[in-house]
Amino acid sequence: MKRMLSGIKPTGQLTLGNYIGALKNFVRYQDDYEMIAFIANLHCITVYQEPQELKKNLRDAVALYLACGLDPKKATIFLQTDVLEHAQLGYIMACNTYLGELNRMTQFKDKMAKGETNLSAGLYTYPTLMSADILIYDPDYVPVGEDQKQHVELTRDVAIRFNHRYGDTFKIPEPLVQKVGARIMSLSDPSKKMSKSEESNKGCIYLLDEPAVARKKIMSAVTDNEAHVAFDPVKQPGISNLLQIHSSLSNEPIESITARFEGKGYGEFKKEVAEVVVAELEKIQANYRAIIAENQIERVLEEGAAKARSIAARKLNKVQRRIGIEIRKR
Ligand code: TYM
Repeated sequence: MKRMLSGIKPTGQLTLGNYIGALKNFVRYQDDYEMIAFIANLHCITVYQEPQELKKNLRDAVALYLACGLDPKKATIFLQTDVLEHAQLGYIMACNTYLGELNRMTQFKDKMAKGETNLSAGLYTYPTLMSADILIYDPDYVPVGEDQKQHVELTRDVAIRFNHRYGDTFKIPEPLVQKVGARIMSLSDPSKKMSKSEESNKGCIYLLDEPAVARKKIMSAVTDNEAHVAFDPVKQPGISNLLQIHSSLSNEPIESITARFEGKGYGEFKKEVAEVVVAELEKIQANYRAIIAENQIERVLEEGAAKARSIAARKLNKVQRRIGIEIRKR
């Protein structure tokens, strides 16, 4: 069985973008692949987080993994910090990545361009930790949204170079990016990605948003003056975004949705998108409440970490022997 690995960084509550671009696919793939899905809590602290809030967000993220349908009997679910090998391999990866490569990462460049000051060194080197998160498990595929593709590509480059220098050590992973829904845009500004770090919450739907709140956000989504429901991300970015959201959740092809709305107004269209989104949120939230009540989280994380650790420890050991820093036989 081919192996898949991915992670989410819950710097806030998980969003509809995380769900459509990533989590929903983890669930879909868990039957056909060996799925490793972790919570990237070390990545969270590249930017200051209020500790109590972070703890709550981490618990909620695990509960939401389960609520969205990840099954701990099929998938390995754990917290990054429960497997210490990630950070150690992260350091080794940092020693095998060039500054020039990190300077090219668009996420960091964007933050620099915005003139944000006091950016942490951890934020800059974060793609090297992400490479370690991936390479330590030798996955075949890494399912991610569009914005993380560049980091997986860097991981491939670093792994190829490492294998070349030290001998075959890492499997070269492939990013897996969906055709529809890989970049869900903000509802209030469809030129920007829907993101938990958005200043106003109007453009971002959270998986734990009250249904009425989510409905309101969809109904007030920014559109255009074209007055027909068509898929054209350049001329009609807002409507195209709503079409992607609808299609990803309903599994109805975009052409079929646009055909049904031929000659109809945006209000009617938004109402249907809101119905589709709210139905999905209600299902997830009912599961979430049950999971919180049943107190399953500790056990799931413990079992997941034990499984992950046994793979990661072997790989780290191999890497350390390869590069010459391990001198005891284990
Ligand atoms: P993060 O937490 O920013 O996002 C988690 C996943 O959700 C996807 N995503 C989106 N997809 C579509 N539309 C959006 N608006 C949207 N916003 C987020 C992301 O592309 C991602 O797949 N560095 C990673 C976490 C990570 C990781 C890893 C991922 C750490 N180590 C190893 C894969 C493998 C991150 O910050 O994702």
